[in-house]
Amino acid sequence: MSVDFNALRRRFPVLERKTYLNSGSYCALADTVRDAINAYMEDRLLVGANWDVWVSKNEAVRAGMARVLRTQPDEIAVTASASAGINALASAIDFSGPRDKVVISDFEFPTNAQIWHAQEKRGARVMHVPRATDGYIPLESFARAIDDETQIVAVTHVCFRNGAMLDVAGIAKLAHARGAKIMLDCYQTIGAVTVDVKRLDVDFAVGGMLKYLLGTAGLGFLYARGEMIDSLLPTNTGWFAQENIPAMDITANRPSPTARRFEAGTPAVVNCYAVEAGLRIIQEVGTDAIEARVRYLTGLCMRRLEAIGWPSITPPQEARHGPMVCVRAKQVDQLFSKLMGEDIVASFRDDNLRATFHFYNNEQDVDALVTALARHRGQFQ
Ligand SMILES: Cc1ncc(COP(=O)(O)O)c(C=O)c1O
Repeated sequence: MSVDFNALRRRFPVLERKTYLNSGSYCALADTVRDAINAYMEDRLLVGANWDVWVSKNEAVRAGMARVLRTQPDEIAVTASASAGINALASAIDFSGPRDKVVISDFEFPTNAQIWHAQEKRGARVMHVPRATDGYIPLESFARAIDDETQIVAVTHVCFRNGAMLDVAGIAKLAHARGAKIMLDCYQTIGAVTVDVKRLDVDFAVGGMLKYLLGTAGLGFLYARGEMIDSLLPTNTGWFAQENIPAMDITANRPSPTARRFEAGTPAVVNCYAVEAGLRIIQEVGTDAIEARVRYLTGLCMRRLEAIGWPSITPPQEARHGPMVCVRAKQVDQLFSKLMGEDIVASFRDDNLRATFHFYNNEQDVDALVTALARHRGQFQ
């Protein structure tokens, strides 16, 4: 059954006013997500503390996230952020033995470097896999870095600076062959690209809800492979991570047997309302259909940029990019502001202007961006 993307587009009012190419920072707001936040307000005003409903919303987020990642709810922790998930995981890892090495890459979002560097105090050694001269990080570079002292490989799916996508399944194979674990930071792909944690064969995955998952800030997730959970005891914990929350036991730490052990305190309830609604849209459209649409739009954008003589620096191969297309620009902050003034919402990191696509974008959005860039080439290329 084909998806009516034009009808879906109408559910995101900002798209009538703006060329919105910034889902990699913050998604456009859907009508049903707004309604969900309003429903929370109604509950608070008219019912008061609706604890059972709140718990059910948190569990709906867990179940929805499990479906998107193609796994089971028991393998999902609903966290306050991607950072919270990485922190809980890192706190459960012992770096005092011979496996003290953490392998990350030059493509990491700061939090997935800083948190591992913070473990140096606990004995971790952090190694960065550098980019090659062409700007990409090939599998061979990971093969050289991962060894028998590697405890965990923690890598991003798509680089937030340049849109390059790593060969995660290949890196997972290398990690497992050396007895190491692998954690994927899929924040820049989840919701725009199918992320099947079993197919990729990653042990952990983190991300959050405010980008392509159509939700809001203040909520993230950690996937933990079922067989791993029992052996990991997070010291970064709290009462919502316990096996029996209502027991209110203050005599011991008895973590949940499921991935819930990576959670901490009271869930961000209003965010759960919003995220449940956002995840519902993702599931209705389906991540395979979303990925096909996003690939069509990014491919079109790259070809059009090539045609105006301002090619994207994001790798063109399908296996090497996700929903982000970047061009290198002079005075990129000024180019960004100029585009904003023309109602084209993009973003920038380093010297790169970033356009990030979701299923609700269309050919007119690509055209508006490329036409504007063609106009500004003289000044900014
Ligand atoms: C790839 C990636 N990882 C992590 C984060 C940060 O996530 P959080 O703020 O939920 O910790 C971001 C945010 O932009 C990101 O793009």
